[in-house]
Amino acid sequence: MSMRTKSNPGLEPDNWLARRVSSSIEQFRQLEHAGLGALVAESRDGKTIQLEDGRRIVEFASCCYLGFESDPRLVEAAKLSLDRWATQLACARTRIVVQDVVRLEQLLSQILGGMAVTVFQSASLAHVGILPLFAAGVLPSFSFRSPQFILDRKAHASIQVLRAVLESFGRVVNINIDDLNAVEESLQRARRDGHTPIVICDGIGSMGHIAPIEAMLPMLDRVDGYLYCDDAHGFSVLGEHGQGHAMSHLKKSPHRGIVIVSLNKSFGTNGGAAVVPTTNDLQVIQRYATSYAFSGSPALPLVGASIESAMLHLSSELCDRQALFNRNLALLDRELDECPLPVLNQFSTSPVRGVLLGSEKQCIDFCAAILHRGYLVTAALYPTVERDAATARIAISANHTHGQIVGLCNIIRDLAG
Ligand SMILES: Cc1ncc(COP(=O)(O)O)c(C=O)c1O
Repeated sequence: MSMRTKSNPGLEPDNWLARRVSSSIEQFRQLEHAGLGALVAESRDGKTIQLEDGRRIVEFASCCYLGFESDPRLVEAAKLSLDRWATQLACARTRIVVQDVVRLEQLLSQILGGMAVTVFQSASLAHVGILPLFAAGVLPSFSFRSPQFILDRKAHASIQVLRAVLESFGRVVNINIDDLNAVEESLQRARRDGHTPIVICDGIGSMGHIAPIEAMLPMLDRVDGYLYCDDAHGFSVLGEHGQGHAMSHLKKSPHRGIVIVSLNKSFGTNGGAAVVPTTNDLQVIQRYATSYAFSGSPALPLVGASIESAMLHLSSELCDRQALFNRNLALLDRELDECPLPVLNQFSTSPVRGVLLGSEKQCIDFCAAILHRGYLVTAALYPTVERDAATARIAISANHTHGQIVGLCNIIRDLAG
């Protein structure tokens, strides 16, 4: 199916986004036709969702891996915050910052190894605010000449959409971050050509891929390059106090880069955060990042819940939650050990699992058959994944019961066999 502009009927817009839209329209149509698009949830009970049409399903689609979203202490904290602040304070944070937001940033800094932290409404909006400032060379911790961006092909869509912004500051080179020889070569070439190389990737990607950050840091040291890492899926579920995959390594060389985390996933609340080396960097961000200075703060009731979640992250309870999650993940891995289809990230530390189907149609049919039997997994299709790498994505939670996990795996083995 092709795209046509209203003002120029008959003319097809020819740009990267129009091509992307037009090449995935058919998949979306099939997804909706199979009943897998935009299901309307009426209520929830743990991991069971009551749909508007009367069906009850067990969802393996939400990425709140540790199950904090339904912790009564977070819910109560959100209610208290609502009583205290009402729904919002619609004022730029360059003028008034609510004390709870400052408190949250202090707690996140403790979680994130003492780095300087500021919160945004989401990780996506943190990218919008931070990437241009980083690329422009105005963050004081990072001194560079003209930048060259070494962008992992798998980096999240919220980064990829800012490619044109990056291109206005320097050349963007696409790379597969797993090919460490290619990474080294790109870094050395950029340096030889007089650029400062900046590697951009996800720490744990949305399909669970684990970036080789530990191996890349010495390479970056040798060329005086930097890392910009989105650790939306690693935060909370991995590392000491839940500091995530990226910070677990970057904290040893805190001046080598920037990490963005999301509070919308395992952390169980709402928002995103930028993690930078010093408060001098924060000062620039808080004055000039558009999605900070000219946009609202994270929703205040959820800031209250975030403070509660942060305190749990700094207590011994976090380890218990991580252990519970890992027990469920191990159960899924064991149950799918004999699965005839390839299982993504099986037995790895990544929190994400998936069953690789290949074609879009096979994946949609597979996920629709699972839904028919009362379970929801996500059909991850192009362009979220490469073409012909369509995957039934499974998000496990610490809140799933043994019976729910075994139930899903029985269906998967049945359909795959
Ligand atoms: C790797 C990655 N980064 C960022 C995001 C977006 O996070 P947020 O909801 O905080 O914008 C996602 C969401 O799925 C993601 O998978």
